[in-house]
This record gives sequence, C-alpha cells and structure tokens, in this order.
Amino acid sequence: DGSAAANGSAFSFIEVEAGVDETHHVAEGYDAEVLLRWGDPLFPDSPAFDPKNQTAEAQRRQFGYNNDYVGFIPLDGSSEHGLLVVNHEYTNEHLMFPGIVTLAEGKLKVAPADKTRVDIEMAAHGGSIVEIRKVDGKWQVVRDGKLNRRITSTTPMQLTGPAAGSDRLKTAADATGTQVIGTLNNCAGGVTPWGTYVMAEENFHGYFLGKLPEGHKEAANYKRYGVPEASYEWGNIYDRFDVAKEPNEPNRFGWIVEVDVNDPNAVPKKRTAMGRFKHEGAESIVAKDGRVVFYLGDDERFDYVYKFVTAGTFNPNDRAANMDLLDSGTLYVAKFDADGALEWLPLVFGQGPLTAANGFGSQADVLIETRRAADLLGATKMDRPEDVQPNGVNGKVYVMLTNNTKRKDDQVDAANPRAKNAFGHIIEIAEADGDFAATKGKWEVLLKCGDPSVAAVGASFSTDTTRNGWFGMPDNCAVDAAGRLWVSTDGNNPKDTGRTDGLWAVDTEGGARATSKLFFRVPVGAEMCGPLFTPDDRTAFVAVQHPGDGGTDWAPFGRPSYYEDLSTRWPDFKDDMPVRPAVVVITKKDGGKIGV
Ligand code: FEO
Ligand code: CA
Ligand code: CA
Ligand code: CA
Repeated sequence: DGSAAANGSAFSFIEVEAGVDETHHVAEGYDAEVLLRWGDPLFPDSPAFDPKNQTAEAQRRQFGYNNDYVGFIPLDGSSEHGLLVVNHEYTNEHLMFPGIVTLAEGKLKVAPADKTRVDIEMAAHGGSIVEIRKVDGKWQVVRDGKLNRRITSTTPMQLTGPAAGSDRLKTAADATGTQVIGTLNNCAGGVTPWGTYVMAEENFHGYFLGKLPEGHKEAANYKRYGVPEASYEWGNIYDRFDVAKEPNEPNRFGWIVEVDVNDPNAVPKKRTAMGRFKHEGAESIVAKDGRVVFYLGDDERFDYVYKFVTAGTFNPNDRAANMDLLDSGTLYVAKFDADGALEWLPLVFGQGPLTAANGFGSQADVLIETRRAADLLGATKMDRPEDVQPNGVNGKVYVMLTNNTKRKDDQVDAANPRAKNAFGHIIEIAEADGDFAATKGKWEVLLKCGDPSVAAVGASFSTDTTRNGWFGMPDNCAVDAAGRLWVSTDGNNPKDTGRTDGLWAVDTEGGARATSKLFFRVPVGAEMCGPLFTPDDRTAFVAVQHPGDGGTDWAPFGRPSYYEDLSTRWPDFKDDMPVRPAVVVITKKDGGKIGV
C-alpha cells in the first residue's frame, strides 16, 4: 500500500487516494492549513477583504490573486522565520467579481470591464512579499513585518542589462527605454543565492489588444510571441496595452524581474540579459567556479529550454557585491541530441547566424527576439518547458515538460518521444563533469507521464507506482534539502482521469527510480503550483491556483462546478465568499521532516 520505503524509495509516507472533491487532502499524519488567501491583509492598515465592494486601493494592500511561485527567504538563517515571496500570475474575473457572468446556451459570458475592474485586476497581479513565523508549531503571517510589500502591474520598474535603452523599448511615456510600469503574468520564479526574489513574466501576449500599424517593424517579432492575444481588456482603458497606440510596449514584458526584498522601496529590475520569452521560472545554483547558473523554460509548445550563466562570481560574504550579477553573462539554449548528448548554444550577437544578415543589429536585438535567435541556432523544440530545477545534492537538473498534443508523428524526436503528447514528461540532465556552467552535458528521459494502465499512453512509471501515484502534466517542481524531487501538476482533468492536480513525490535514485506517490491533492478546478520546502525540510508550502475554475454553473459569486453536481467554495465554504486561491502550509504532526 505504499506505506513502507519499499525498494529503496526515499519516501515513506502513506499516499493520498487520488480523486476529486471540494477540498484539499494531504497524506495521513500531516497538517495542511491555509496560510494566505486572496484578499488577506498584508499590512496593519489593510482593509478587510470585502468581495462585494472591491477596490484597487484595498487590493494593493492585500494578498493578490492566483498564487503561483512560492519562495522562502530565511531571516537570520532560520527555517521558522522568513519572508514568503509569492507570484500572483493572473486573474479569473468570472470567479472574482459578483454579477458579471451570464450563461447563454451553455457558454460563459463575462460583462465588459470598466476602469474600476481593470484597476482591481492590475492590483491583483504581481507578487507579495510577506514575513511569516512559526509559533508553537504553527505558521503565522506577521502583518506588521517591515519588509512586507505588494508588487503589482503598476509598480515602477527599471529595465537593465544589454537591451535597456534600446529604441525598441522606448515609448511615449518613456523616452529612455529603461522605465517600465509593472509586471505581468508572473508564473514561477526563484530566489537567488544572494537572497533576492526573481519573478518570471510568462504569457504577456494576452494583455495586449489592437492592431499594429500596417508594415510595422515589430510585426514578425510579435507574431513569434502571439502578440496581441487580447485575453484582457486593459488596452480599452490604458493606451499602453493597445499596440496600435503604443507599438513598443510588448517589448517591455517577457523578462525576468529581480526584486531586492531587503528594501520595500527598491525598484524591481527587469534583467534583459536573461532573454525575452514566455518565462516559466528561474531556479539557480552556484557553479564550481562561483558563477551562478539560472535554468529557464519558455512555456509554449515547440519552444525551448535555456540557461543563463553570470559573467561574475557569487560573493557569499558581501550581498551588495552580487546585486547586479544578472546584468552580464551568457544566455544559452538547449539542443538535445538523439545520442543523449546535450549542447548549450550561446545566444551572442555576431556569432553564427546572429548577425545583421538576419536582422540583428546588437545584443539588444538578440535578447528582444530571443525565440527567433534560438530558432536560427537550431535548438530543440520541446513539449512546453515549465520549471527547470537544478539539484545540488545529486548534481542533476530536472526539466518539466507539461504536454504537447500538437506534436505530429513526423515531429517526434528523442527528447520529445511521443506524438500527441497529452501527459508530458520529465528529462534529467547531467552537466559535463558535474559543472552546472558547462556548455555540454548528457540527458535522459526520467519519466513519461500518464496512466500506466493504459498501454497506448506509453507511460514509464515504475511498477511500484500505485493507481494513486501516477500523474500527468508536470508543471512546477521542487528539490528538498535531502535532494528529493517533488512534482506539481497543471491539467489533470477529473472528467478524463477521475483525479485532480496535486503534489507527487518522485524517486530519482537506484531501484526506486521513476516511482511516484501522491502526497497532496487540490480541490476541484484548481492546479497545483509553487511547491517549496524550508531548508530544514519540516515545512512545505504549496499554492492552490484557480480553485473552482472550469465549471459551467455561475451563480452570483460564480458557484462553479466542474461536474454538474460538484462545486466548491474552497477554502472558506461560506455563501458570501467566493472561491479563493491560497497558499497552504504543510507540516508533519510530529514536527518531523516531510515525506519520511
Ligand atoms: Fe504559468 Fe507555464 O505555467
Ligand atoms: Ca507553471
Ligand atoms: Ca521550482
Ligand atoms: Ca500552470
């Protein structure tokens, strides 16, 4: 029953039963408590959450929507006191605002947004930095924490690095090409070795609407990124989100943003040296020679895996000396060869095809059009690269590839071995000589995901994996202090598989390799984001994103139902409260380490 550490498994918890219902479930012997919900106050003067009378002003003082990345920055080296940093990726208007949804012929219709609503949406995006502390075994929010901060889509930011100041980044509001208002669609992220918070701007294309002027020089660039998609109506209120009125604004998004959490007034910096694409995350590790390596995914079908290696080295004794490390270095894109060799190809202006002959006039151009540069280098087109996680204990790197149902039979390659890849896979990289900064390495598929009892799926979980233990759609992941891999998922649809998304523990070593066990599952309609362990492995944080989404029954607050007969008001379960995305904190009842 998976209760023992059979066959050398690194995990010995009793796994959760896969399934679907209105709430979350964690393995027996553990507590899983809601720590921070959308709308929770973050400051002494924050107004109480009032879902029927929302304002942007209140939202700017409250925890934002759709928590994704979760990081923990210890204060004074403690695993029981620190800063929780959380991305707020996007907003689900139909679940947030009462009275805006109608159902016509089975289709959801959302009323057009006015300025009040757009301003609330913009304030609900971004990130939160909030002091938390474990008191008598229970985690609490420190509401008067001096470093608490909300970052939103209107927070002033600076563009730095090689693309800063490029003509292509200049707008009517910013003649310098260095000053941006806000950040968007912050998916996963990371915490740097020097204790800053990095936020990855992912699907920025959806925030732009309108039509580029005829024959505009950015037309091919924007086409490669799917700009504009017009998922949001912000451009009807603010000209900068209308490409007809402000054609360069989309070039100012799709970057990695670094935030100095030690100063709540610090201007966040968009680090252009790390490239512009639909950034999923930015997990890092210090290489043997002290340079710092950031692994980066570009989450789109047939896009790429990247890494950025700083030019300078990390100084563990002088935090200030590291503060601009992300402005210079080399961005590489991955080529996964059929023989198991991995090559990291540098994206450097003037090298190979990255020249004026192909329309690149500078490194700024290479970075603004990172995808086109990577196309020209012949990088390997992957099945939606999401989190890429270095493991400092076993020296490997884990690449989550969510899925790609559009891959055709003649597009299959060794690193993307399944056509119509509905369930995704995980690749394990071993860099040459165990050096994370190496430009060569080896790779193999750790796991092909999906239900192993359905032969046509072609999943490769070990035979010790139970019917609860398999999963599809790996998205985020974490490596704990013991070097064990934990994978969270996005897209396990109860209608198809009878199970929700969740957090699975995946063995990578020895005879137990590719054995997986379900540790936590989310309420109906949610996806699982942000797994993160404190350095003592005694606390895990998980982010429950868009609970209740995907339904068809949209009563006053959007009482959503995935099935006709199943709905949720997680986590409050009150008639006058909407569903709320929230961060959940998991501890073992006996106070011990998680998973053992
Ligand atoms: Fe925001 Fe690729 O998930
Ligand atoms: Ca993700
Ligand atoms: Ca991660
Ligand atoms: Ca996701």
